[in-house]
Amino acid sequence: MYTVAVLISGSGSNLQALFDAQDAGDLGGAEVHVVVSDRSDAFGLQRALARGVAAACVPLPAAPSGPSRHAVRAAWEQRLAKVVAAFTPDLVVLAGFMRILSSGFLQHFPNRVINQHPALLPADGGDTVTTSTGLVIPALRGAHVVPDALRLGMSVTGCTIHRVTPRVDDGPILARTEVPILPDDDEVSLHERIKAHERRMIVQVVRDLAAGSSPKS
Ligand code: GAR
Repeated sequence: MYTVAVLISGSGSNLQALFDAQDAGDLGGAEVHVVVSDRSDAFGLQRALARGVAAACVPLPAAPSGPSRHAVRAAWEQRLAKVVAAFTPDLVVLAGFMRILSSGFLQHFPNRVINQHPALLPADGGDTVTTSTGLVIPALRGAHVVPDALRLGMSVTGCTIHRVTPRVDDGPILARTEVPILPDDDEVSLHERIKAHERRMIVQVVRDLAAGSSPKS
């Protein structure tokens, strides 16, 4: 059994794609055993509960200003890690999880955390990506990359799944797809087209990782 934990902050349509693939026998024996969110109103929690999958919310407390801010965040990461670790996951999938996780969290799951990012990221950690047609475009990082792509007037963007390292929106690439930006695209239409690719990609990546996994020690 290849156990998967999924971290979300919102709708969880990618989580649903994993559930659907699991039901169809298309996830290579991988099973989602827990869904954790930083937001209690994340609809993905309802998706998990509806099928009897464990669902938990670990909210990040409102940050005070000053040095204690760092301690509050570090303590939150430890609480989050404890909840996730209770399910001994082989893989932790950040599927629309809108918080940055530091090594304080990542050290609990070495090389086992992957992230979906709704833009193209380069393999070399640099600031640009070269597309399949040779176009050099900015590597968009952060929480607003879909509107950023529109604002910059780019003709192509995409999505990436990568292993998570302490560097934000960086780490070895597992899958990437280019998505053209259409003249009448707005944020909603573009993001929805990107997500259609992300849902296909996340199923494929989880299936491939499950297939290549070695037994848990
Ligand atoms: C996806 O587009 C994912 O790439 C993005 O959130 C969306 C989640 O959609 N993640 C990030 O932006 C992380 N920085 P969903 O809730 O419908 O699965």
